[in-house]
Amino acid sequence: MTRFLVRPGHRIEGSVRIPGATKNSGTKQMAAALLAPGVTTIANIPPVADLDVMIELLGVLGARVAWTGPDSLSIDASNELEPEAPYDIVSRMRASINVLGPLLARCGEARVAMPGGDNIGSRKINMHLGGFEAMGAEIDVLHGYIEARAPAGLSGGRIVLEFPSVGATENLITAAARAKGTTVIENAAREPEITDLCAFLNRMGAQIMGAGSSTLEIEGVEELVAVDSELMGDRIEAGTLIMACGIAGGEIELSGVRPEHLELVIMKLGEMGLRVSPTPDGLWAQSNSRLRAVDVATLPFPGFATDFMPMVVALLSVADGTAIVTENVYDGRFQFIDELARMGADVRNEGRHAVVRGVERLSGAPVQASDVRAGAALTIAGLAAEGETVVHACEHVDRGYPDLPGRLRALGADVTRLAD
Ligand code: EPU
Repeated sequence: MTRFLVRPGHRIEGSVRIPGATKNSGTKQMAAALLAPGVTTIANIPPVADLDVMIELLGVLGARVAWTGPDSLSIDASNELEPEAPYDIVSRMRASINVLGPLLARCGEARVAMPGGDNIGSRKINMHLGGFEAMGAEIDVLHGYIEARAPAGLSGGRIVLEFPSVGATENLITAAARAKGTTVIENAAREPEITDLCAFLNRMGAQIMGAGSSTLEIEGVEELVAVDSELMGDRIEAGTLIMACGIAGGEIELSGVRPEHLELVIMKLGEMGLRVSPTPDGLWAQSNSRLRAVDVATLPFPGFATDFMPMVVALLSVADGTAIVTENVYDGRFQFIDELARMGADVRNEGRHAVVRGVERLSGAPVQASDVRAGAALTIAGLAAEGETVVHACEHVDRGYPDLPGRLRALGADVTRLAD
């Protein structure tokens, strides 16, 4: 079990470069690379635990993945693929479901274990499957596996998503890129990671129009070719560090991240009194006094992302006043609240809402991370606590952050990884 030790008392100061968005963008581009028989390279893809799972999965499917530098890799999908994603891999990472679209498009069939729910709530895949059916696939769910077939190839169709699901949009775009005819996806997700994926696929020869909007039109093409790609900076890591600045106080500069990816976060944090401003290559943030409580509700992009919610609750737990935080995307993402309460936070969960009454100071405690963002939130909460905080189960944090303690240390915080 990985643990982080957080010692408070240091304002954070300095500049750091934000790493590429490996977990939420890189793993998706790796899955999409299966569509191109050739060698794809991806740069700015720093290692995180979820990347190891995707590397293993692509290997089982018949692609060869190799590191070509400390944060760049190549994917050789020249050989025929084996279209079966086994349970022992899929159950470790939900993004594994993203291989379904590429496999179905390239092989005409796919057998992928059903991904389960996880520590943030139930995570269904009905929209993925409904979308493939609209493109002519036959789908059965048998013995815990999705069995999908489209022997004559997928054909374009009109798909209306009942919710702008990130994963369903990505999976359907990649399949539609190689389908016969035109696919229209209405109520598509607009997250920056989707735009990153569309840009990648278009460079491969796909014809995707409308990336970043709610309506995507994809003209299927006969073949896609392997290309070189570079990932966008990780907006969630950037937001985590800015909120760490709000908690610890200080002044930081982040490069390698696009301010427009964090527009609503910047606005909300501004209302709280945290100064954040775009720079030519990223963001600057400064916090000198106690922040004010504001209400926050999570929504799909361009709304306030659910992935920032645990961190903003940590921030509000030491702000002046009471805030209501509403979680609209997941049904079980408040599990970390009891851990924050162990640190002296006055926070209560009622259904989709949390009521956070700011206290002057938290108190360091042993706490447990239940998922990647919960662990990040508890870590930054420790920066404002009296005494030491030890965050247990930080292997969850390592799934998405290449080295959160290291990045916080580079800004002057005292956060270390404890040896087992
Ligand atoms: N949903 C359905 N049916 C579907 C698909 C989704 O009901 O077919 C529901 C889910 O149950 C969930 C909601 O829709 O309640 C949102 O799911 P979505 O498909 O948008 O999310 P995802 O693709 O599974 C990605 C990120 C998440 C992030 C969400 C929302 C990756 C690997 N994961 O998940 O990241 O919260 O989009 O932005 O990209 C994280 O980084 O901490 C994280 C959980």
